[in-house]
Amino acid sequence: MSDAVNILIVDDLPENLLALQALLHDDHLMLHTATSGEAALSLLLEHEFALALLDVQMPGMSGFELAELIRGSSRTRHLPIVFVSAADRDQSHTFRGYENGAVDFLYKPLDAHTVKSKVRVFTELHCKSRELRRQLVELEAARADQQRLLDELQHTQADLQRALKMRDEFMSMVTHELRTPLGVMALEVIMRQQRLDKGDLGWFSRERLQAMLDKDARQVRSMTRLIEDMLDISRIQHGMLSIRPQPTDLGELARRVVADFEAQYQQVPLQLATQAGIVGHWDDSRIAQVLVNLLSNALRYGQGRPVRVDVGLADAGIARLAVTDQGPGIPPQDQQRIFEQFQRLPTSARAPGMGLGLFISQQFVQAHGGHIAVHSAPGEGACFEVLLPLTPA
Ligand SMILES: Nc1ncnc2c1ncn2[C@@H]1O[C@H](COP(=O)(O)OP(=O)(O)OP(=O)(O)O)[C@@H](O)[C@H]1O
Ligand SMILES: [Mg+2]
Repeated sequence: MSDAVNILIVDDLPENLLALQALLHDDHLMLHTATSGEAALSLLLEHEFALALLDVQMPGMSGFELAELIRGSSRTRHLPIVFVSAADRDQSHTFRGYENGAVDFLYKPLDAHTVKSKVRVFTELHCKSRELRRQLVELEAARADQQRLLDELQHTQADLQRALKMRDEFMSMVTHELRTPLGVMALEVIMRQQRLDKGDLGWFSRERLQAMLDKDARQVRSMTRLIEDMLDISRIQHGMLSIRPQPTDLGELARRVVADFEAQYQQVPLQLATQAGIVGHWDDSRIAQVLVNLLSNALRYGQGRPVRVDVGLADAGIARLAVTDQGPGIPPQDQQRIFEQFQRLPTSARAPGMGLGLFISQQFVQAHGGHIAVHSAPGEGACFEVLLPLTPA
């Protein structure tokens, strides 16, 4: 139906309309007839026409007047018009009022061949322009598609460049972070060797040996930590992060981790408040690592002020582990991004660290079906809160 071409025929005499209908009868043409200009105008509002055949002499609105109205409306301005006139050929060309748009004339008595061929010319024109419009729409769609692909490509390229840049930064950070403790240890070894070569055994007092061992252990720990972090990152990136849940007492776990920290950082007061019997199905070592990361941050960035660890229930079936410090806090606009890889705040750039702790912690917590968030206002410390379902789904 939408492929049929609409033709408007206007004549005040029904027998003329019938004659034209018979003449133009064709499966591809949809003929609409009107016996007055007014009736024709209302049809023009309803349909889109390929051509209008207008009788010139009609009582009331003449064909020319109707044509002027058709030209006056933006909707029908370009509708081709063929006037059907009884006047002789010279007079009929006196029609003025519009210069633009296709106009033609047919003279009575109508010659069947001329009528048909004129109508065919206009309907073919109409079909061609309809086809052109359709192609234009398709072209525009193809162009939009192409633009979308181009945008996607640019996006991917930007992602790739970001990833490459991240890799380079990562490599240089890793080398730096590993070289520092290794350098310290290498120097220590040389010094000890020199003392030994000189036979300076008095230098190796019990206390001094103990201090050396403690220091070595710290350097080894930090390097091991770094290598483990890198392994975890690689597992996360390859979707290979696995957790081994087993019944775990969160209060016990926190007590253990806090005790370890107290042994290392005697200068900072650590406060632990645990609710008894918070037992869930968790991977003990992963959750311990989350707490280690949060505590390291609180101690590293908390300006040496007291740090508090809380263990309790947030809700029925949800455990809560929180680490609160009294440091500089984290501006709201940074509270999201610090959980991403390599994101560090300018204020802490001088402290050691790679910006991996929170990212890894978040991944571990999420692997347990839990959630980690920070509550903080600048200058008012930070509270990192971990919510863990007692049984991961
Ligand atoms: N308690 C805190 N107070 C203030 N800023 C913090 C705190 N915890 C984290 N941040 C900020 O968030 C950044 C990211 O922390 P994250 O633990 O992910 O990495 P990092 O501590 O820099 O390095 P890594 O943990 O890999 O050794 C930190 O560099 C710091 O700027
Ligand atoms: Mg950290």
